[in-house]
Amino acid sequence: MTAEPDVHRTAPLYDAIASFYDPWSVSVTEDVGFYVREAVASGGPVVELAVGTGRIAVPIAVAGIPVIGVDQSPGMLEVARAYAEREGVAHDVDLRLGDLRTPPVAERVPLVVCPFRSLLHLEDEREKLRALRAAAGLLAPGGRFVFDVFAPSREDIEETHGRWLEREPGIDERAVWDEPSRTLELTVRAGDATVSFTLHWLDREEWETLIEEAGLAIEALYGWFDRRPYAGGEDMIWVCSTTGDEATRIE
Ligand SMILES: C[S@@+](CC[C@H](N)C(=O)[O-])C[C@H]1O[C@@H](n2cnc3c(N)ncnc32)[C@H](O)[C@@H]1O
Repeated sequence: MTAEPDVHRTAPLYDAIASFYDPWSVSVTEDVGFYVREAVASGGPVVELAVGTGRIAVPIAVAGIPVIGVDQSPGMLEVARAYAEREGVAHDVDLRLGDLRTPPVAERVPLVVCPFRSLLHLEDEREKLRALRAAAGLLAPGGRFVFDVFAPSREDIEETHGRWLEREPGIDERAVWDEPSRTLELTVRAGDATVSFTLHWLDREEWETLIEEAGLAIEALYGWFDRRPYAGGEDMIWVCSTTGDEATRIE
């Protein structure tokens, strides 16, 4: 690890969840092939911001593309390291402890990704803009930044608000939505452990503004990982590319 840790307050939360993050997210598989295809098309290497347990990074490395993975949670990185070793790709998964807003990455790459809504951990638009600028600054000329986020539908809020739901056997989840502040407090319970995260969503227009402010061009906005165009649903998958302005904009 080459990082200068700039640890944000969600790090201990993810350390607490690291041992059951994979069982908790086991049904989330739809994004893996999408990001692997992006990685292969880019030729690599790829930087994954908020790499977590390597759910996406390890399949990318298995497909032959080296990955630099940044995360602020030592516990999540430990799980990622073990996964990469089990899959025989530890040499192609370079895990670095650090904050995605100040990533410990000197390399410039053709593809930066930030899967599974990780940017929503950042509290406000200023912090999200810092992250977008940091991602843009890692791109080689012509490179792409691809990430996904969500904004909840009214039905989702009504169906889930304040209710404990069994997400996977032995793992329960409760969403508490606050529409005025656009925050979701998500609590996950497994055995004796209970962990709460706060996620902060934005709408499509706000993301567009931030992406452009970060000096990136929007190439595509998909509504799902099968690349269907965004049509106002919950999921937004943004494909952004360099415009030549971004390298000077990192804070
Ligand atoms: C939902 S998980 C996503 C992990 C992985 N990308 C995946 O798709 O499974 C969010 C990850 O973001 C990391 N994270 C949150 N805020 C961060 C920050 N400011 N800098 C670096 N990592 C951060 C957490 O430690 C956690 O591993």
